[in-house]
Amino acid sequence: MATPNQFLKFVDDNAETFIKRLGEAVAIPRQVRAFIVSGDSSYRPDVFRMSAWLDGQLKSLGVATKLVDLGKHVMDDQELPLPPAILGRIGDDPKKKTVLIYGHYDVQPAQKSDGWDTEPFTLAVDEKTGQMIGRGSTDDKGPILGWLNVLEAHKTLGLELPVNLRFCFEGMEESGSEGLDDLIKTEITKGKESWFDGVDCVCISDNYWLNTRTPCLTYGLRGLVYFKITISGPARDLHSGGFGRMVHEPMTDMVNILSKLVAPDGTILVPGVDDLVPAAQDEEIAIYEKLDYSVQDVEDAIGAPVTLSQDKVSVLMGRMRLPALSIHGIEGAFSGPGAKTVIPASVSGKFSIRIVPPQTPEEVDALVQTYIEQEFAKLHSKNTLKIENLHNGRPWAADPKHWNYEAAIRATEAVYKRSPDLTREGGSIPVTLSFAERLGVNVLLLPMGRGDDGAHSTNEKLDRSNFIEGTKLLGTYLYEVGAIKA
Ligand code: BES
Ligand code: MN
Ligand code: MN
Repeated sequence: MATPNQFLKFVDDNAETFIKRLGEAVAIPRQVRAFIVSGDSSYRPDVFRMSAWLDGQLKSLGVATKLVDLGKHVMDDQELPLPPAILGRIGDDPKKKTVLIYGHYDVQPAQKSDGWDTEPFTLAVDEKTGQMIGRGSTDDKGPILGWLNVLEAHKTLGLELPVNLRFCFEGMEESGSEGLDDLIKTEITKGKESWFDGVDCVCISDNYWLNTRTPCLTYGLRGLVYFKITISGPARDLHSGGFGRMVHEPMTDMVNILSKLVAPDGTILVPGVDDLVPAAQDEEIAIYEKLDYSVQDVEDAIGAPVTLSQDKVSVLMGRMRLPALSIHGIEGAFSGPGAKTVIPASVSGKFSIRIVPPQTPEEVDALVQTYIEQEFAKLHSKNTLKIENLHNGRPWAADPKHWNYEAAIRATEAVYKRSPDLTREGGSIPVTLSFAERLGVNVLLLPMGRGDDGAHSTNEKLDRSNFIEGTKLLGTYLYEVGAIKA
């Protein structure tokens, strides 16, 4: 079943309409964290606006949908409603394969004052470079809209879809996909009535090329264990002139503890954590050597020459097959402008560890908690320590020799005229493992954007060509799956 030329032409001819729709989607801010941390109910309408917008789009393109209320959750001592999951279905031909598509409609918070050159929630299209800049352009609204583009082309042209499609879109991915695993668990108990009944494979477009040139397919992701440690002492903030060198200062304790977690070269200092991972064998090293990637690519993506090594393989292994501990911030510390002479009364340090096979969140959590308690005891501080685990996600790896990957390789070759690299990625998408294990099917990560798109960063962008060729790629992939004999 070759991809119809009509479809490819439609995508080229309608690029402007597609970009306009991406602009609409970016303009609906969906700031999960800002909404939750501030407890500001003024964000609540945005949550439901984005889900309602997407639901409306799917319906108008002929997809039957169901919005699933995921209930409430507690974060930072507040109970908040979870945004709904959107399930969709189109096609029920028993002769066709059924592909489940996942995406997330939430985005990271953004403010112009973070250092954006343009308004983050207004899509800015740079006609010269082709960059479309805006929060969510690449993570993950652009890719979701890629699927809408495919649907629109087929509907308008009156073309039959080559496969049956199921959709699962959520609005909590950036905060650990709360509630989604439970939904999948409940759904599959319904047997024939389950929304996921008959699914043959899963495709997720929520990842990126390694560089700015070579398309890739991703068959592995790291897991995540996220910690918050709170050290509290005085009942209120103090004047450092009045009380400095009289009391145990929470910030001093915090900096001591944080300094014992990770070495400047990235080595994880929590005993046992790095040891859980076996060393790479020659065969595996050869895979990294062959990938189209250089230290220069990293430097270009991050804008400075600060990689841990000048050796490509060692840098790549840091992202693809080693655990990583990052310290994210200290809540409650003085962080404003000026030179305030304060002793903060209570501070919370946040850090996380990206974990890889065969590490499990439970093992790593236990090692970290024990170690921090021991190190805190060594400080002989009268302050109190509280350790919280904010979320746990296991690492995931798929079989890249599966027909699902072979279909995606052929689709990439057809659209980009070159073979994709096969990569493992450093980020996490919690639902990947839920789908793989609970549905028992192969999961493919098929990217739209490039390695320098700046997901989560300022000036997040998606290149126009990646949006348009990426839309062709998603459609062509469906044709390649449809062409596989049952
Ligand atoms: N799209 C990313 C995941 C990703 C990052 C894939 C880098 C490939 C390369 C996703 O939206 C994300 O940011 N996930 C979070 C999940 C976490 C909150 C559990 C992440 O990785 O921090
Ligand atoms: Mn994402
Ligand atoms: Mn993200």
